Amino acid sequence: MTQRKSLLSDHVDGRMVAIDSDEAVADRNAIVQLDPDHPGFRDQAYRARRNQIAQIAMKYQPGDPIPDAPYTDEEHQVWRVIWQALQPAHQKHACAEYLSSIKRLSFASDRIPQLREVNYKVQRISGFRLEPVAGLVQPRVFLENLADGVFLCTQYIRHHSTPLYTPEPDVVHEIVGHGVTLASERLAELNRLFGQAVKRTTSPEALERLSRIYWFTIEFGVLREGEDVKAYGTGLLSSAGELEEMRKADLRPFDLDAASRQDYDPTHFQPILFCADSFEQMYGTVHEFLVKW
Ligand SMILES: [Fe+2]
Repeated sequence: MTQRKSLLSDHVDGRMVAIDSDEAVADRNAIVQLDPDHPGFRDQAYRARRNQIAQIAMKYQPGDPIPDAPYTDEEHQVWRVIWQALQPAHQKHACAEYLSSIKRLSFASDRIPQLREVNYKVQRISGFRLEPVAGLVQPRVFLENLADGVFLCTQYIRHHSTPLYTPEPDVVHEIVGHGVTLASERLAELNRLFGQAVKRTTSPEALERLSRIYWFTIEFGVLREGEDVKAYGTGLLSSAGELEEMRKADLRPFDLDAASRQDYDPTHFQPILFCADSFEQMYGTVHEFLVKW
């Protein structure tokens, strides 16, 4: 039966998505599957917890408080290890907009924050809600929800055997990356505009182009602050390793048309990044592009 499963890579986020090839497109509540190469594949307790957390998402009704995920002490320790690596990397490599947003959220560094707690703060700042998903989200579903101020969010954490590596976006990426940037009014606004642009898009080619621009801005965007190159992309800001390496990338001028045609591989550090001259230039350019789309 496993041959019938095909792995798709979510072009927005590099989410690994397993679907039955003869089934309709997975909706937001489809069951998550672990690939045999996944670090937690042979850990029955981890898999049981992943399923339990997936059940939270499946039972979740929009607008309800999000039930707390049953993290173990080992998993809180994963968060602490990541946090210790990320804090100094943020001070060196994160853009000013991000650093001021992370202060506004001021979440605990010694345990995994629950989505419910992050939501409470983010919603007051930008109106965005994080809503749990089991992990299987098609790009259009993910992007269109942004138009309504909804960020579909995974709640599980990576396997404790690999604290600095995850083959799929987990709650660290969601909170440290997206949760924090959605606590910036301007970055939240761009997320909303991406959703609205996708809703006006009918052809798969146009959707692909918008997904790539999302990737090279919201997920992997960099910009200049004086002489420095700083990150505002959530994929960079949730990986201390990639933050340290980002200057080695081929930094290209901030050209959204070029970004919309640039292929990428979500499984490696990004060798090509599009670098804006400033936060204001990035914000103004993306805003105008999406409104005109
Ligand atoms: Fe992401």
